[in-house]
Amino acid sequence: MDNSLPRHIAIIMDGNGRWAKKRFMPRSFGHRAGAQTLNKLLKEADKIGIEHITVYAFSTENWVRSDDEVNTLMNLLKEYIEDYIKDNSKSNIKIDAIGDLSRLDEDLQNKIKKLEKISSHKKGLNLHIGLNYGGRDEIVRAAKKIFEDIEKGNILKNDINENLFSSYLDTKNIPDPELVIRTSGEQRLSNFLLWQSSYSEFYFTDKLWPDFDIKELNNAIEQFKNRDRRFGGR
Ligand code: IPE
Ligand code: IPE
Ligand code: MG
Repeated sequence: MDNSLPRHIAIIMDGNGRWAKKRFMPRSFGHRAGAQTLNKLLKEADKIGIEHITVYAFSTENWVRSDDEVNTLMNLLKEYIEDYIKDNSKSNIKIDAIGDLSRLDEDLQNKIKKLEKISSHKKGLNLHIGLNYGGRDEIVRAAKKIFEDIEKGNILKNDINENLFSSYLDTKNIPDPELVIRTSGEQRLSNFLLWQSSYSEFYFTDKLWPDFDIKELNNAIEQFKNRDRRFGGR
């Protein structure tokens, strides 16, 4: 079985905290290292010809962490966006965010809008960042929007099918991920892309996210190519 390159890879970037702990450093040190890992990886994925990467940066469940850690993560995101905007002429990558952005602070929301606008004409890899993203929350928000459109008379109840439902999700313009990668040895989805991963192949590695590298990416792609994707057939 030889599948071609996945068009879309989704990544659960897990293990930043443990990576820092092993070094007797604060968790923020691990998150910072994780952001650098992402940048390296994106360049490589763009070179290989991957079209879409979706990363899980902050889940709807991550708000229960300490205020200190949540603030650190939000500030890191702001920094990440500012750096991109500053150096954007050097980058080929198109970025947008998925998730319920309305819960993020106004400054971050504005930065995201600016980022999406500035990168919208880029021709390279599409990076989708999951921010206050949860698969269940996304499905509930989609259901509400469908209900509103029925109430307004824009659609009929009988119009609802899988395609229509997909078009109300945050990922409406993105093909489903063929491959989902999770680092740090955990083997669960943690509420990531529940609808979209219905037929994804999974790749789990014990590597902590900051240690994830090109070799590991190639490994994941190689394994993917050897998977027998049956989609319910024989
Ligand atoms: C993943 O690393 C990053 C986020 C969830 C934001 P963690 O912070 O979950 O790191 P571990 O799992 O505690 O090692
Ligand atoms: C998943 O990692 C969320 C992100 C990577 C942003 P978590 O570390 O939050 O997941 P659990 O709690 O181990 O399932
Ligand atoms: Mg974790």
